[in-house]
Amino acid sequence: VTASALGAWHIRPLLPGDRTALAELLATTGAFHASEVDVALDVFDSGVGVGGAPAADPDYHWIGCSVGQALAGCACFGPTPCTDGTFDLYWIATARAHQGRGVARTLLTYVEDEVERMSGRLIVMETSSATGSTAARAFYLSRGYALAAVVRDFYSSGSDRLILSRRMAASRLAIPRRAS
Ligand SMILES: CC(C)(COP(=O)(O)OP(=O)(O)OC[C@H]1O[C@@H](n2cnc3c(N)ncnc32)[C@H](O)[C@@H]1OP(=O)(O)O)[C@@H](O)C(=O)NCCC(=O)NCCS
Repeated sequence: VTASALGAWHIRPLLPGDRTALAELLATTGAFHASEVDVALDVFDSGVGVGGAPAADPDYHWIGCSVGQALAGCACFGPTPCTDGTFDLYWIATARAHQGRGVARTLLTYVEDEVERMSGRLIVMETSSATGSTAARAFYLSRGYALAAVVRDFYSSGSDRLILSRRMAASRLAIPRRAS
């Protein structure tokens, strides 16, 4: 449990009952188009077994950061199919009211701990070069992720796909964990 100006928070796996709060959180960051929120919710449904899905899909792990009854942040990650020890971080987001307080940093540390526990050796994520993603890029770079590739004009003309990655173990040792 970590203290923030808005109260104590804790990181936990997301459950089917978190769907509405997750939808609201993703929509209100302003970083995702409605279609991207829909995709995230579809992935959430299969990842946590919502809506009669036979079983939770082990390729998608959803975690959240709770502050009281509120959902302050979320992340989705999982093993990348057809790889040996590579994991994708598909989404990470912090509700506007909670940004700048270390929520995403705490979520990412939890993700990295889980990836190490599952013998992962590489975490990969993607973002766009559009100005709206400045915070995301700054966040990833601050956590030791490096630009691995650029696909020019991927999202639209002038908006590139940036692929960032970080090797586990050795690179983690190089980044001192900041006390929250
Ligand atoms: C990117 C995002 C997840 C960061 O969440 P956050 O909880 O505010 O981040 P933290 O408080 O944990 O910040 C950790 C570090 O990231 C960097 N950072 C975070 N937001 C930043 C910003 N707006 N500008 C510059 N650096 C930033 C800082 O280096 C910060 O370290 P510091 O606290 O020592 O200064 C948040 O801005 C967000 O939800 N954005 C919209 C969704 C998104 O783009 N997600 C990523 C693609 S899936």
